[in-house]
Amino acid sequence: MPSVRLTPTTMLYSGRSQDGSHILKSARYLHKELPVRIAHRIKGFRSLPFIIGCNPTILHVHELYIRAFQKLSDFPAITDHEVESQYCKLLRQLLDDHKDVVTQLAEGLRESRKHIQDEKVIRYFLDKTLTSRLGIRMLATHHLSLHEDRPDFVGIICTRLSPKKIIEKWVDFARRLCEHKYGNAPRVRINGHVAARFPFIPMPLDYILPELLKNSMRYVAFCYWWSVLNIFTSYKCFVFTVRATMESHIETPYNVPDISITIANNDIDLIIRISDRGGGIPHDHLERVMDYHFTTAETSTQDPRINPIFGNMVDMVNSGQSGPMHGFGFGLPTSRAYAEYLGGSLCIQSLQGIGADVYLRLKHIDGKEESFRI
Ligand SMILES: Nc1ncnc2c1ncn2[C@@H]1O[C@H](COP(=O)(O)OP(=O)(O)OP(=O)(O)O)[C@@H](O)[C@H]1O
Ligand SMILES: [Mg+2]
Repeated sequence: MPSVRLTPTTMLYSGRSQDGSHILKSARYLHKELPVRIAHRIKGFRSLPFIIGCNPTILHVHELYIRAFQKLSDFPAITDHEVESQYCKLLRQLLDDHKDVVTQLAEGLRESRKHIQDEKVIRYFLDKTLTSRLGIRMLATHHLSLHEDRPDFVGIICTRLSPKKIIEKWVDFARRLCEHKYGNAPRVRINGHVAARFPFIPMPLDYILPELLKNSMRYVAFCYWWSVLNIFTSYKCFVFTVRATMESHIETPYNVPDISITIANNDIDLIIRISDRGGGIPHDHLERVMDYHFTTAETSTQDPRINPIFGNMVDMVNSGQSGPMHGFGFGLPTSRAYAEYLGGSLCIQSLQGIGADVYLRLKHIDGKEESFRI
């Protein structure tokens, strides 16, 4: 059966009623729609090359989807609020059961992809599975949130979202992570339409912004260590100096270049540009940074296709403190897939030797042009 995707405006306007009938209507839509979407995903798992489908981690995720399909399609018709609250319980449980699916897919495919020559097979499967998962989670969370009475929110839709505020929230998160991992974090300046507010769904931004900010912060922090390394040519001396520098951190503030974020708002879309001075993406990596599993992260979590020595050095200096700063080579391809699913795009311009500019575009939900569908 074909899936029926909703526009955010439909979700917004059908998200309120005096008698609570909108909640039953929304549950009935999900009751019909979710098994269809999950069935399509199961078909995706079944069309994977046999050798990949046999991987225990992939098999585990495949089984999670089959179990979800059974539970959702066995659920009785939503006749009243009592049944609806049981349905909400099931949705919460399924959201929780599936929370690690992206990591599990990344792990399972990293183990098995060496058997597959054709990169397109993996890309198609992951783009489809991850964006469909985003859609399902948005719809399920929207339904659950319809029960809450949050100011400025109808379900998952914020009626007056401030891009600046949500960027600041993720800047704080990424800075804390970066400080923990590298001992310092660049400051972030936000400019452009900083006062803009409009109806928008924060959820995709909550996935994409931390990924882009982690990348930029990592390379700016890393560039700093690289400049330290350039001063001292011998490796032993490098480790010694880095240790010394970290210890003198409080007295000597680092001169880490700022990251600059520009917000551009217009009647079609929202554009966020993140400009860092982390050295940029080398010419020979540029084609591959949007490939799933392409990473210049340390060996502990990476695809053996690339293994630059610098990533390892930074981690050795941090003596094994590998937080979730980077790892699978999933940040960019997943963010691009999400942006495109929502009618937008994600592009990178690299100024090799200086830094990288990442452009994220997302369509407005009430813009001049036709909106995306979830
Ligand atoms: N701002 C940037 N400056 C320089 N290189 C970058 C930047 N952003 C991404 N890259 C390069 O692109 C690669 C892929 O990025 P991506 O976010 O997809 O994966 P990752 O950060 O390595 O791991 P993950 O995001 O899964 O934790 C990075 O490993 C890095 O080599
Ligand atoms: Mg990343």
